[in-house]
Amino acid sequence: MPTVDELRPSIMSAAQGAATLNLAFIGVTNGLFEALAERGLGAEALAERAGVDAGYVRRWCEAAFAFGMLEVDAADAADASSPRFTLTDLGHAFRPSTPGTLMPFAIQSVLGAHMSERAAGLMKTGERPGEVVLGERATILPWFGPMLEASFGGFFEREILPSLELYRELEARGGVAVDLGCGNGWYLRKLVTRYPHVRGVGLDGFEENVRHAEATAKQAGVDARLSFRTGDIYHFAVEEPVSLVAMNRALHHVWERRDEVFGILRDAIVPGGAVVIWEPRWPDALASLRAPRQRPMAFQNLNEHVQGNHFLRPAEIEAAMREVGLSPRTYLFAEGAEAVIVGTRAA
Ligand SMILES: C[S@@+](CC[C@H](N)C(=O)[O-])C[C@H]1O[C@@H](n2cnc3c(N)ncnc32)[C@H](O)[C@@H]1O
Repeated sequence: MPTVDELRPSIMSAAQGAATLNLAFIGVTNGLFEALAERGLGAEALAERAGVDAGYVRRWCEAAFAFGMLEVDAADAADASSPRFTLTDLGHAFRPSTPGTLMPFAIQSVLGAHMSERAAGLMKTGERPGEVVLGERATILPWFGPMLEASFGGFFEREILPSLELYRELEARGGVAVDLGCGNGWYLRKLVTRYPHVRGVGLDGFEENVRHAEATAKQAGVDARLSFRTGDIYHFAVEEPVSLVAMNRALHHVWERRDEVFGILRDAIVPGGAVVIWEPRWPDALASLRAPRQRPMAFQNLNEHVQGNHFLRPAEIEAAMREVGLSPRTYLFAEGAEAVIVGTRAA
């Protein structure tokens, strides 16, 4: 059995990893990495460019330098009092605009700390305040959409989209896809960008998400084929025939009322249409949670508990689909950490 002193180095390394991500969070949410993207700046100039306080920026620069995210401009190395800082490769990797950005890890880290603090206190009483807890930190809130998009958008395009024939069928029939709990709308935006005959309708309970979805669809030039609206999944209805209803990381938010939800999903789609549910896959065996791809899900499920939710096993989702007459099939991705369950309505 290892001694405490033998365990210490790996925990010290984990603690420094957490500090790196906390510093990265400050840089991301204040636009500091992007402000340094093109040229080196001293703390004062960086603060001015990002529109934030110079005293804080100076301390952040020193710390970000210590943790390898910033470098001191070679010409300024001798003048330690007011050096100009540039981004290292690690600093560039945290820029939200870098393809495959590491930004989500920084957001997740601070969100995880916030949720842990809430769970620690709530455990005493068992209270589960719900999704309101997610909105308690003003600096985190605007980053949910970008974080989810950066985490899963590329994965969707690379792994899921090519694997499921139903997207090609949707394109062939020029159908309408609905995304319930659409967040910032990235899923429909990517779908209609790839398939020029598909149209999409997104619905989310948060008005701010819907505004963001509309703005990003416009920027991407696909707003003519997309519409977004604020509303509740339980009262969802569209005026035209729908070929596909998707829910991405949204079903576990409404699982308590699954009988109602699956009735709504089944009734929304045309004969031959499909319901496509993408969820983290809660494993059948506890031992699977030790796998590096599954471990973060175990931590997040504690955070979900605070919100009144829990992650689901694909078999539970399949059973709920069968109850309403849909024929389910499960597809696994990411070494089994992600599940897409497709429920088809008979033609
Ligand atoms: C984890 S987020 C996923 C967002 C998006 N689907 C994605 O993958 O990026 C869950 C979303 O479901 C939405 N949501 C949860 N319950 C809802 C409800 N009853 N009606 C509408 N939206 C809901 C939340 O507002 C949130 O945007």
